[in-house]
Amino acid sequence: MRVLSVASECVPLIKTGGLADVAGALPGALAECGIDMRTLLPGYPPVIAAAQGTEHDIGALFGGPARIVEGRLGDTVLYVLDAPHLFDRAGGIYLGPDGRDWPDNAERFAALSYAAARIGAEGAMGWTPDLLHLHDWQAGLTPVYLHQLDAAPMKTLITVHNIAFQGLAPAGKLELLGLPDSGFTSEGFEYWGQISALKAGLVYSDAISTVSATYATELLTPEYGMGLDGVLRSRRADLHGILNGIDGTSWLPPYKSPRGKAKHKAALRQEFGLPEAEGPLCIVISRLTEQKGLDLLLEALPDLIEAGGQLALLGSGDPQLEAAFRKAAGDPNVSVRIGYDEPLSRRMMSGADAILVPSRFEPCGLTQLYGLRYGTLPVVALTGGLADTVINASPAALAAGCATGLQFHPVTADALRITLARLSSLWQDQPVWQRMMRNAMAHPVGWDQSARAYADLYESIVSRP
Ligand code: ADP
Ligand code: GLC
Repeated sequence: MRVLSVASECVPLIKTGGLADVAGALPGALAECGIDMRTLLPGYPPVIAAAQGTEHDIGALFGGPARIVEGRLGDTVLYVLDAPHLFDRAGGIYLGPDGRDWPDNAERFAALSYAAARIGAEGAMGWTPDLLHLHDWQAGLTPVYLHQLDAAPMKTLITVHNIAFQGLAPAGKLELLGLPDSGFTSEGFEYWGQISALKAGLVYSDAISTVSATYATELLTPEYGMGLDGVLRSRRADLHGILNGIDGTSWLPPYKSPRGKAKHKAALRQEFGLPEAEGPLCIVISRLTEQKGLDLLLEALPDLIEAGGQLALLGSGDPQLEAAFRKAAGDPNVSVRIGYDEPLSRRMMSGADAILVPSRFEPCGLTQLYGLRYGTLPVVALTGGLADTVINASPAALAAGCATGLQFHPVTADALRITLARLSSLWQDQPVWQRMMRNAMAHPVGWDQSARAYADLYESIVSRP
């Protein structure tokens, strides 16, 4: 089966979050299941650098020429949407230099969706997909364009990586985006008077998936559905939860057993200027946003430090949170790096005892999976993929010898504080802690099972009449 994956980011070329890791890993993981997956990406400068093959002209798009150029990323064939007026610019891929969304984001990702639909309708480079696998709102308009190109039989699956990002655009852009007025209704892609690219994908795709089973059920509720829970409830029969994996060749700890961590921990303490301590060395590697619940950690932090624990944080985002963590680093047992640094994130994963993920919601989450693999015990909120991947050290799980981390609920500073106190007391019982490290490191976090689940889902969609 041939599948075109349509994504706005992909490792190692361009990344702002976990979507890039997933888009980067899927083609390799699915090849094992006999799926021929190619990936369509916007031609940002680092992606254009990987494009040097045949070209497929798709005419002018939003005021400039556009073509699809073949590229390569290891064994994966890339289709790169080369439209310099949309993608060749300095700055972030979604945000301009002023920190705000690019004013033409609706057009930029409508162009990506249109290119996907063209490949679905007519093929490119002598290859025609059987199914389009769309990721998030950036690919959401694809089924609408397929319909307009009279290629509606082409099957589509949309994966929701985060319902918080919906791709809203003013109704005044309907004509510019080439969208039919007939779709601008509450049953279509209209969302409270605006155009919603994500809603278009949810309404018109053949099937919908999200990145964990728990998030799939959460999305059906007003608490987590962010206004789209009604749409998702109406499509409940076509909604699937398939957990993300991590790329085991890329995320490989530099030790085989828990004992190997010691020298990396010493190096990490040195790198972050942290003294020796009685308690566990905890890390955070995260976007600093409301979603990630790190304001709760700021509240609970003094108790962790008081109990002998330490914190090393790497992150960037919300300026207020950045400032608050910088201030917290006034304590000698707290050290903070504001920025984005992947090699550093790997050294942190190798050296730390625990990783904290107190998210208010988390569709899947990848850092707790890295944590498991590296024997860096995850302390997570009981939500989304965090609920599905960590085995809480309850008395029963400890007695059964299967615990891999700690979970807390509700997602409040008090519950986090209590859980961090549990973490500190577990740390005092080193035989139990070491056992948990071994459990964590042995826990399957790869793609095998999920790749199979995607392959089965693709088969079931394509075989529909
Ligand atoms: P999200 O996609 O919501 O940000 P995930 O846990 O799925 O959350 O993925 C985040 C990815 O980004 C992980 O690979 C994580 O290691 C990485 N990451 C986040 N912040 C940083 C940072 N400041 N430096 C390096 N890597 C980071
Ligand atoms: C989103 C989610 C995160 C998930 C990632 C990859 O960014 O916030 O939980 O792991 O997508 O699916």
